Amino acid sequence: MNKFITFEGVDGAGKSTHLVWFADALRARGVELLVTREPGGTPLGEQLREILLHQTMSIGTEAMLMFAARLEHVEQVIKPALAAGKWVISDRFSDASFAYQGGGRGMDWQRLHQLEQWVHPDLQPDLTLFFDVPIEIARARLANNSALDRFEQEKGDFFERVRAAYYRRVAESPARYAVIDAAQSIENVQRQLLEVFKVIEGE
Ligand code: TYD
Repeated sequence: MNKFITFEGVDGAGKSTHLVWFADALRARGVELLVTREPGGTPLGEQLREILLHQTMSIGTEAMLMFAARLEHVEQVIKPALAAGKWVISDRFSDASFAYQGGGRGMDWQRLHQLEQWVHPDLQPDLTLFFDVPIEIARARLANNSALDRFEQEKGDFFERVRAAYYRRVAESPARYAVIDAAQSIENVQRQLLEVFKVIEGE
């Protein structure tokens, strides 16, 4: 059965690197796969991404634009691919809105649940890989990056709140998540991902 898998974590957790490896490993197993990302994933979504990553705006606007981009993404890309029998991997999904807009920016958690209900009432990832890392390590990894976006420029306490909000999401529906210790070396993270494959293949 095809699956919808999302990758989450604070900036600097290394999820994008691991996503490439994970997607290649799935393809090598013969899986027909669509890889996409948020904010983005559609032409309109990518335009919204540019605005979201670089323009200052109020918290509510930020949250609604994230979910507006997501609505396009769900309807135009994710649902059609799943209906065609493909697997879908998305680099971030609604958990990022709970983590960043809810945790980081302090937006009301119930409002985010309402937006989620509106935008994808009948769709949740089958599996979410949460790449968890202490914030000092994530910040050190970002330090080499010269062009930081609006979120990456935030301070350490913002990311502590983002991380805590991810944990809150995991606590709300633990069965959906695999928590990956992303402080480890790349090889050790890949070893953890191989364990995830075993679970997926066993289903
Ligand atoms: P990211 O995956 O970190 O992009 P890149 O690896 O290219 O830097 O995503 C961009 C940023 O968007 C990231 O800092 C988190 C933020 N974001 C939110 O604040 N809310 C959301 O709902 C989503 C999807 C992303």
